[in-house]
Amino acid sequence: MTIPEPARVGFGAGADAYARGRPSYPADAVAYVLSKVSGTVLDLAAGTGIFTSLLTPHREVIAVEPVESMRAKITDAARVLDGTAESIPLDDSSVDAVTVAQAFHWFRFDEALAEIARVLRPAGSLVMLWNRRDESVPWVNRMSEVINWRSHQISQYDRIDWAAVIAESGRYGEVEHRSFSWEHVIDRGLLAERVRSVSYVAAMDHAEREALVTEVLSLAADFPETFPMPYNTLVWCTTRS
Ligand SMILES: C[S@@+](CC[C@H](N)C(=O)[O-])C[C@H]1O[C@@H](n2cnc3c(N)ncnc32)[C@H](O)[C@@H]1O
Repeated sequence: MTIPEPARVGFGAGADAYARGRPSYPADAVAYVLSKVSGTVLDLAAGTGIFTSLLTPHREVIAVEPVESMRAKITDAARVLDGTAESIPLDDSSVDAVTVAQAFHWFRFDEALAEIARVLRPAGSLVMLWNRRDESVPWVNRMSEVINWRSHQISQYDRIDWAAVIAESGRYGEVEHRSFSWEHVIDRGLLAERVRSVSYVAAMDHAEREALVTEVLSLAADFPETFPMPYNTLVWCTTRS
C-alpha cells in the first residue's frame, strides 16, 4: 500500500504540529454531514482523528489511516486500521457511509472511488470535505503567497470539479455541494503550528521551515493576542448507485 511521497514524509514528520495546528470543523458543517451519514461510518484518511472525533459521539466509526504517527493519535474510533483509499482493509458492502476530510486530493481518484464503492453498501453515502483558508481576506492571501501555497499541486483541491470527478467514476448518484463560512480563533503559537502542519512545509529542513514561520508571523505582528483565521468548509455528498 503506497501513498504519495510528500504525504508520507510530510504527515509522518508533522503529526504533532498537525494535531496542534489544524482547525476542527464547524458545527453546522458537522450537523450537515451527520444528516447524510447513518450506521457504521468509515472515516478514510483519518489523520490524527480531528474529524473522526466529531463523528464518534454520534456514530460507530472505523478510522483508516496509512501514516503510523498520525494513526497513533486516534483514540476514540471503534476500530483504527492501517490502509489506503486505494486498498481499504474492509469487506465488500461492510459500511453504511464513508467520510473523507481534507484528504481526497491525495488519492488516485478513480481507484479510490472504485474502492470506496466496493466497501459501501448500496445507497451508502460518500462525503468529502475540506477546510479552506479564506484567501479573500488580504493577510490570509499573503500567507498563501509566503508559503507558496498555490504552486503546489495539492493546493488545487478547491479548483477541482468534484461533481465531475465523481460522475466520471460511474458508480455514484447525484452530488450535493454546500459551503460553510466560519472563523478559527487562534494566537501566534497556533498560527506557527498551522504553517508547520502543511505537508510540504513539515517535510522541509528546520531552518527553511522556521524562516517561513517567521515570515507568516510577521503578517500578524499588529494583531491582538487572539485573532480569527477565516475558513470556508466545502462539502460534497453523494450516494453509491
Ligand atoms: C490533511 S490530512 C487530513 C486528516 C484528517 N482527515 C483531518 O480531517 O484532519 C490528510 C491525510 O490523508 C492521508 N493520506 C494521504 N494519501 C492517502 C491515501 N492514498 N489513502 C489514505 N490516506 C491518505 C495522510 O496520511 C493524512 O493523514
